[in-house]
Amino acid sequence: MATINQNFLKLQNNYLFSTIAKKVNNYKALYPETDIISLGIGDVTLPLPEVCVKALHDATCEMADQKTFHGYGAEQGYPFLRNKIATFDYHGLDIAPEEIFVSDGAKCDVARIVQLFGTDNVVAIPDPVYPVYIDTNVMAGRSGDFNPEKQQFEKIVYLPMTLENGFVPQLPGQDVDLIYLCSPNNPTGIAMTKEELTRWVNYAVGHEAIILFDSAYEAFIQDDNVPHSIYEIPKAKQVAIEFRSFSKTAGFTGLRCGYTVIPKDIQIDSVRLIDLYQRLITTQFNGACYLSQRAAAALYCAEGISQVNDNISYYLNNCKIIRNALTSLGITCFGGDNSPYIWLKIPNGMKSWNFFDTLLETCHVVGTPGAGFGPRGEGFFRFTAFNTLENTIKAMDRLKNL
Ligand code: MLT
Repeated sequence: MATINQNFLKLQNNYLFSTIAKKVNNYKALYPETDIISLGIGDVTLPLPEVCVKALHDATCEMADQKTFHGYGAEQGYPFLRNKIATFDYHGLDIAPEEIFVSDGAKCDVARIVQLFGTDNVVAIPDPVYPVYIDTNVMAGRSGDFNPEKQQFEKIVYLPMTLENGFVPQLPGQDVDLIYLCSPNNPTGIAMTKEELTRWVNYAVGHEAIILFDSAYEAFIQDDNVPHSIYEIPKAKQVAIEFRSFSKTAGFTGLRCGYTVIPKDIQIDSVRLIDLYQRLITTQFNGACYLSQRAAAALYCAEGISQVNDNISYYLNNCKIIRNALTSLGITCFGGDNSPYIWLKIPNGMKSWNFFDTLLETCHVVGTPGAGFGPRGEGFFRFTAFNTLENTIKAMDRLKNL
């Protein structure tokens, strides 16, 4: 008789953004005329940069001609893209193209990577957090049981991100083996400084731990003291795996392309993680789409960089509009300087899912309840800056009805 992976039964609720989509769809079914504005899931609205569109057309023509057609590509990505990433994104950081694995997106990589590690590893995860880190470790059997009172899994070490610590995860009081860090952070929008990241790298070196560093929002960094890569920190190449994505940088949420960096220096018990990952992806993955990789590679030129910068500035301007509107309503908010997310303190002690319902019903605006990101997200709420300028202004105007 077949049995199921019992760990799946420990997962709490549905995936956060599916729950939100369902609630919004239910509301739309009841009130089909309502014009709902979503500042919920971090999905982009600007079209692809022109350089990508041209590259897609060219690549499509190649695929239409037998002489230039591409079938399976290398599982780790085409050299034309890996070389560009190494040269441009890791300029001066001595990351080799062979240490870069191109994929169908950072979310998929974050989910895949957990297979490399033993189920007995103690995992430290910030709270609140992008739910994929918790859920994938639950599925893998690393979480222990869920404690409904604490709203936490027993074996996971939660790293509180609170008002008091400025939403920056602090070193744990116990030994941990795997550490998730996300900077600029989803959901709080706060980015870690060089000093803060250095503390974590030193901890990982001292405890022989591995840092899983999610850098999907790197392109939004504006401050000089915020590192663009964890490899700017000395010794990080011994302990850190970095995930990046073209989704938010260049509007690839629908096209799909991201990458993971695994330095060859990272070893556990004399086994190189890069070799394990190579084995994993050759078994489980047939390489990212050729068209997506051509589109991504096209970004690495003066024109592409300028088009990406324009998009980032557009979204950061939306952040400013959201922050100004909230502040003028007397609502305290954080983030949005180095990231596309604004994290706000819900006024009057309202619970975050209640605030979600109120906002939807009163203002027809969708955001993401903080509690969906973990127990310490309760009392907070997230807005994204990824909608259009017009809709962002309209949504903020509607908040006056609250
Ligand atoms: C989010 O809204 O947190 C992100 O869009 C989710 C994702 O990137 O998968």
